[in-house]
Amino acid sequence: MMVYLTRVEHFNAAHKLYNEHWTEEQNKEVFGKCANTNWHGHNYELHVTVKGVPSVDTGFIFNAKELGVLIKEIIIEQVDHRNLNMDVAFMKGKFTSAENLIVGIWNELQPHVEARGAQLHKMKLNETPNIYVEYYG
Ligand code: NI
Repeated sequence: MMVYLTRVEHFNAAHKLYNEHWTEEQNKEVFGKCANTNWHGHNYELHVTVKGVPSVDTGFIFNAKELGVLIKEIIIEQVDHRNLNMDVAFMKGKFTSAENLIVGIWNELQPHVEARGAQLHKMKLNETPNIYVEYYG
């Protein structure tokens, strides 16, 4: 009996999307406002879904409060109120698109979830109210 549990957390971060091999015009054409030279921020919303079989002792597949603490310790501490291009180790040298960000977050968090006997099933990252990405590992 596989059950899925989702925890939602938030962070605010700055970034810039640009290809250093392109002209400013090309960057603006492709990345729009996200190419703004002097950075800009997003209010990100991260949905982390784990899957497992409910424990006979607790009825939980993963303690939802502990999952929140884990996400905060492993992810939010690294990205909240930071510059994703400059401050975040797991994004070094990458385009800070929502796509790359969600893969980076997954890779950071996965070993910690597995160490607690659960499995990551899905992540969803809202970059704006209109745009989100999903990743299944
Ligand atoms: Ni942006």
